[in-house]
Amino acid sequence: MSAVPIDGKAFAEGLRARIATQAAAFEAQAGRKAGLAVVLVGEDPASEVYVRSKGRQTIACGMASFEHKLPAETRQADLLALVARLNADPAVDGILVQLPLPGHLDEQAVVAAIDPSKDVDGLTPVSSGRLALGQNGLVPCTPLGSLMLLKDRLGDLTGLEAVVIGRSILVGKPMAQLLLAENCTVTIAHSRTRDLAAVVRRADIVVAAVGRAEMVKADWIKPGACVIDVGINRVPGEGGKTRLVGDVDFAGVAEVAGAITPVPGGVGPMTIAVLLRNALVAAADHAGLTLAGGL
Ligand code: GUN
Repeated sequence: MSAVPIDGKAFAEGLRARIATQAAAFEAQAGRKAGLAVVLVGEDPASEVYVRSKGRQTIACGMASFEHKLPAETRQADLLALVARLNADPAVDGILVQLPLPGHLDEQAVVAAIDPSKDVDGLTPVSSGRLALGQNGLVPCTPLGSLMLLKDRLGDLTGLEAVVIGRSILVGKPMAQLLLAENCTVTIAHSRTRDLAAVVRRADIVVAAVGRAEMVKADWIKPGACVIDVGINRVPGEGGKTRLVGDVDFAGVAEVAGAITPVPGGVGPMTIAVLLRNALVAAADHAGLTLAGGL
């Protein structure tokens, strides 16, 4: 392997330590803890694991965690009423509605109902509009965490060719906007892109967010490129167990790339750390305080 592995787990630990320091300073100045509310509808096991982990890490960083678990058959009006209550609650600085929601609920309408100043997922039309316009606002966690890893590794990204594979609202589109704001030349590739391998081969930065196990191969990668693997795919492993792999064929690509995030331990741990960062940024905004040192 020639690529340097990018240790997202260690970076996330460092970020959480900085958040904990700033959360304590916030509490001392504001006279209350910063608060994050997470709403989970239904019993998807993977979502339950994420939500539990979010709650634990929120408390570990010295912030208040509010968990709302609703049954799978919750009605749209009742979910909207909960969002309205959380919007109005001064103890709640951030609201995250865990996605996907059960099929009978209108996800877009629920997300749009979140107060943009509490939109720690950066998914409301106001937040994504601000991102597109280059205005300050809350930014989706996984793309922002990926950008932090890229800047930590590469420094100034100006002029670099970036190819984002995937055009999702949660990752691909906001990732492209963030890279554009860093003066990259950005291409968004997707399932209909012609000769994807040739497009990816141009890239100094590759962000893979397609949800297809080990799709990105070594001969797609320009030697020395920095590869960020956002994928989390479960595939059959040894002894009937499942194994987690990314969207990148790690073993092959690591022979060619300059740096690469592993799965697990790359982008994954950054998502919750950035969520806590966004909640604290929202809290400072609500309290009219400035976070010393930035996050
Ligand atoms: N489900 C998977 N990832 C996410 C995320 O980043 N935010 C929300 N709200 N739901 C998710």
